Amino acid sequence: MSANQAKISASLLSADFGYLADSIKSAEQAGVDEFHFDVMDGHFVPNLTFGPPILEAVSRHATKPIDVHVMERSPEQLIPVYVSAGGDIITIHIEGVADVDETIDVILEAGAQPAVAIRPRTPVPALRTIADRVRRVLVMTVEPGFGGQEFLPDTLPKINEALSMMQDAHLDNVFEIAVDGGIKSETIGPTLDAGATTFISGSGIFSHPNGIDAGVRVLRDRLNTALS
Ligand code: DX5
Ligand code: ZN
Repeated sequence: MSANQAKISASLLSADFGYLADSIKSAEQAGVDEFHFDVMDGHFVPNLTFGPPILEAVSRHATKPIDVHVMERSPEQLIPVYVSAGGDIITIHIEGVADVDETIDVILEAGAQPAVAIRPRTPVPALRTIADRVRRVLVMTVEPGFGGQEFLPDTLPKINEALSMMQDAHLDNVFEIAVDGGIKSETIGPTLDAGATTFISGSGIFSHPNGIDAGVRVLRDRLNTALS
């Protein structure tokens, strides 16, 4: 992978919601490739966040693609609403949907790119049947539900396993392995080495002590050093 293929995605969960438009603008100026929008329903995960109206507001200000990380039980009916509200990529959890194939169909019919996520305790082979249907899988590197948690090192071998699975499923080599949770200056390198291509970071960017620009720069520098 070359340095410009590695993507940094800014997870808005850690942004200052009172200044969301400013945070989006600062993150874009700092060079993020994508935004990550965490929808939590209080059931699939023990936390509640935001939904379509806020997504619509985000999409009015963001020029980069928006990945909607759907941490919900049975989100099928809301998927077209997320796409209408500006979601470009819809990342569903394999543990949260009754029929993953049908849910991928719903995402495709709505006109978005499907991606499938697994929780830290879900084995990678759970994704095998849909690996050739999606160009992106997300290996969670913390238990989903909250920003600012510690990266779980046990998830590193899963990233490598997901890489092999996607290589087998996509002979054109066009796919992404995303990681989400605890991605910071110390952890981005090991996840890159394990095979990750798309690095989702919330507190590493929006809670960086020296500001959003410094947060993104540190992550980008680590990637460039590791890839050079
Ligand atoms: C956690 C969310 C993450 C979260 C990551 O359930 O899915 O996207 O924002 O936050 P950090 O980077 O702070 O771990
Ligand atoms: Zn997320």
